[in-house]
Amino acid sequence: MVENIDDSTLLAIQTANANNGFGISGTFNHNGNDGTISRFGWKAQNKSLEIFAGEAYNVEMGISNELFPQDRPLPGEDITTGLPANCLNLSGSGYPEDTTNFSFQNSSSDQFTENASIPSDVVAFAMFMRLTAPPIASTTVPGGASSIASGKSLFSSIGCATCHTVTINSTQNSNFTSSLANQPVNPLSDIEIHHMGTGLADNVSQGSAGGDQFRSAPLWGVGQRIFFLHDGRTSNLLSAIGDHSGNGSEANTVISNFDSLSPTQQQNILNYLRSL
Ligand code: HEC
Repeated sequence: MVENIDDSTLLAIQTANANNGFGISGTFNHNGNDGTISRFGWKAQNKSLEIFAGEAYNVEMGISNELFPQDRPLPGEDITTGLPANCLNLSGSGYPEDTTNFSFQNSSSDQFTENASIPSDVVAFAMFMRLTAPPIASTTVPGGASSIASGKSLFSSIGCATCHTVTINSTQNSNFTSSLANQPVNPLSDIEIHHMGTGLADNVSQGSAGGDQFRSAPLWGVGQRIFFLHDGRTSNLLSAIGDHSGNGSEANTVISNFDSLSPTQQQNILNYLRSL
């Protein structure tokens, strides 16, 4: 769904939010090749799910692929002298390690398996993510319908939803499947990157996102997650919210609004988050 939102739809939301009273001013990360808005990853550094899958295969798991054909050194390893021999191409089968399977043997008895086996793992992985349905939020659990509804309304009125856009209308047409086309998307993210201050900064730059900039984390499914924030530093939602404030964070006004709520109102917001 996120892959299939037109740039103009995202830009219109940014314009509509421009005069928020919360001191929030996000920007977009862009793909260096065609200049369009990139969307995936903690800093919105990846243009597509396929690039995301390719990056994760190589950077997180060490599997080179058609999008990232070379292995990369770990921190502390020196690429000028070559990668350590025992890290190189362990299967001995050449680069890239994950490829399109041109030589897949015809077996007329199993047409389905045959077709599914031709794309590289990265392409198949991207398609798996693309076709995974969004999580379905509960309107009653936890805390009951009125607590969740109140939390949702406070989430907007105190300013959380200025970054965590609840609903984006709507996706483009899709050549993958009609169920991705012309749909409202409920990511609870504006897909923009925001300065989050010194407390969250990781000093990593990716594309135009600098050391303290992060994409508003999409909160759909957040009730099912057990670690929060880019480094998984907490499993406590209240701490994750508190950690938004810090020197230079665009979220400071919103977090002080949250701190001024009554305990019941704060619990309503937590129930809303956990219902997602
Ligand atoms: C200025 C934009 C902004 C505002 C305002 C904002 N957030 Fe966030 N939120 C972010 C960003 C960016 C992240 C990811 C930060 C990181 O991982 O370092 C995030 C992460 C989160 C997470 C963790 C999600 C995860 O999967 O790890 C939660 C929960 C959350 N926000 C809830 C809230 C609530 C509740 C409010 C209102 C009280 C709020 N946010 C206000 C930008 C914002």
